[in-house]
Amino acid sequence: MTSITSAQDRPVAALRTRGDNRARGGAPNHLISAGATPSETTAGTPQRNDPAGHARTVTLRIRRQDHPRSLPYWEQFRVRVSSGENVVSMLRKLRLDPVTSDGRRVGPVAFEHNCMEEVCGACAMLIDGRPRPSCSTLLSELGDLIQLEPLPKFPVVRDLMVDRARLFENLKRVRAWVRLDGAYDTHERAPRMSQKQWAADYLFSRCINCGVCAAACPQFPDGAGALEPQADGFVGPAALAQVRLLNAHPLGGYDKPDRLHAIMAEGGLSDCGNAQNCVRVCPKQIPLTSAIGELGRQTTVQVVKDLFGG
Ligand code: SF4
Ligand code: FES
Repeated sequence: MTSITSAQDRPVAALRTRGDNRARGGAPNHLISAGATPSETTAGTPQRNDPAGHARTVTLRIRRQDHPRSLPYWEQFRVRVSSGENVVSMLRKLRLDPVTSDGRRVGPVAFEHNCMEEVCGACAMLIDGRPRPSCSTLLSELGDLIQLEPLPKFPVVRDLMVDRARLFENLKRVRAWVRLDGAYDTHERAPRMSQKQWAADYLFSRCINCGVCAAACPQFPDGAGALEPQADGFVGPAALAQVRLLNAHPLGGYDKPDRLHAIMAEGGLSDCGNAQNCVRVCPKQIPLTSAIGELGRQTTVQVVKDLFGG
């Protein structure tokens, strides 16, 4: 289940209590519940701005939008943070006391998060111009001026929340599933997978559908202005990587021709411009360009098979 922050999600009295705790110098409660204590999250990471892990005040510039049909606007905040915090933790802190740098009390900034460990993909946004999950972006990696924007290419629901349904529609377009309808034996007589193949395929199974690769891809259509998520144009790197994964699966191989035909159609493989942005930004280090290259070979074989009825 996805956690969504909004103006309605916490009583005013509770906000005051938590704010008071922080004013007294105590640890903010939400940091404990977020599971992102400084000692856990700074391990092994570069400490660029405050090597000792001391608290500092950052200026937060957030692109806000009240609802899908309204115009975006910018608001600036000052937030006291420590290096061990991540961007989600900072936003949760801001939610407790949403006062702009010029002293206006405003509605809490809406954003999405759930797992806090780069598994659900819900928290992706544009951080200092780069698409990335906000739960795994530590403040120690960022400067004293931090700019947050909703993930581009996707319709804004509110503030930093976007509708990523296009990603899932694209998975449907390429038939990114394995049929488990009883037509094939999935037990004793199921096809086997070698350890070597499992290791190779595992790389592609780590996709969290965060949409970061789509946001960075110049070929992925810009649907930010759409009121309803639309699945058209280039299906994007994530969907192609799932085709690579499922075509190699012992059961998924049964539908391999259908998937290949899907990506040979409009909006498929040939729409990739080889910019390679996707593989640079993917937080799970999925070898997306290798998947696309491999699918190029598979579609070539499929064309020959189609020609000769193979
Ligand atoms: S391929 Fe990587 S960047 Fe793209 S949706 Fe999956 S995890 Fe996110
Ligand atoms: S909160 Fe789940 S990926 Fe960031």
